[in-house]
Amino acid sequence: MSTPELTGRTALVTGAASGLGAAIAETLHSHGAQVALLDRDARANHDTAARLGARAVAITADLADLDRLDAAHTEAAERLGPIDILVNNAAMAPMRGLWEIEPAEWDAVFAVNVRAAFFLTRAVAKGMRARGFGRVVNIASLAGQRARPTGAHYGVSKAALIAMTRNFAAELAADGVTVNAVAPGMMETPMVNTIGAAKKAELAAQIPVGRIAEPAEIAGLVAYLAGDTAGFVTGATYDINGGVLMR
Ligand SMILES: NC(=O)c1ccc[n+]([C@@H]2O[C@H](COP(=O)([O-])OP(=O)(O)OC[C@H]3O[C@@H](n4cnc5c(N)ncnc54)[C@H](O)[C@@H]3O)[C@@H](O)[C@H]2O)c1
Repeated sequence: MSTPELTGRTALVTGAASGLGAAIAETLHSHGAQVALLDRDARANHDTAARLGARAVAITADLADLDRLDAAHTEAAERLGPIDILVNNAAMAPMRGLWEIEPAEWDAVFAVNVRAAFFLTRAVAKGMRARGFGRVVNIASLAGQRARPTGAHYGVSKAALIAMTRNFAAELAADGVTVNAVAPGMMETPMVNTIGAAKKAELAAQIPVGRIAEPAEIAGLVAYLAGDTAGFVTGATYDINGGVLMR
């Protein structure tokens, strides 16, 4: 993979205030892109955008609110120009046991992890299609490819996102718009720290490469998929999990 040149491209990254989203925003920005960082955590998002400096703007929105989401991508395009690269990264991941999941939490997970990605992609893809260029990258998860006893709603939502990636890829393939998914294994982010240090160490020991991923390692793959040279890659799901799932 060569270093993608993203100068002149505009990216919108959801969940960009922290964790993987922040690493993706930073990587795309370092390759020359203008980046709109979207997150519901206004303060952290502004801090992350300020750290990037010029060519980065922070937009506050909760992905569960579709009206606000519509206003948010419109605001991004008004401030930076038409969106060429969309990264659907934000997610909710409550690690509850299968028997403890309530309908309201099931719906909340799907509203953010699946519904928001669907409607945001559809809205942004209209412009991409009209301009004949676009890159959409959906952040899925190993949890959507392999079952775990906890977080069933999260795992099912990520499997849905992988399926949705193919729907959009098929629809947009002839228009210069690629749509791919990246399925990371365990990463060093605030999300993973919610499980506690002991559990984290136990899970890390089960990874063949012997460690948890750094977000920057995943972000590098996203930057490749966002670049001009990845135009023949579409509808794919990239396993990036330290060898946990080999196929
Ligand atoms: N951390 C891991 O081990 C891991 C593993 C596999 C996949 N993933 C996936 O990677 C992506 C990023 O995860 P992370 O670990 O960086 O998570 P994180 O919890 O550290 O960060 C998620 C970001 O999304 C934002 N966000 C959450 N819900 C939102 C909403 N409704 N509206 C707007 N913003 C919202 C949060 O404020 C936060 O800034 C997610 O899609 C996650 O499922 C993470």
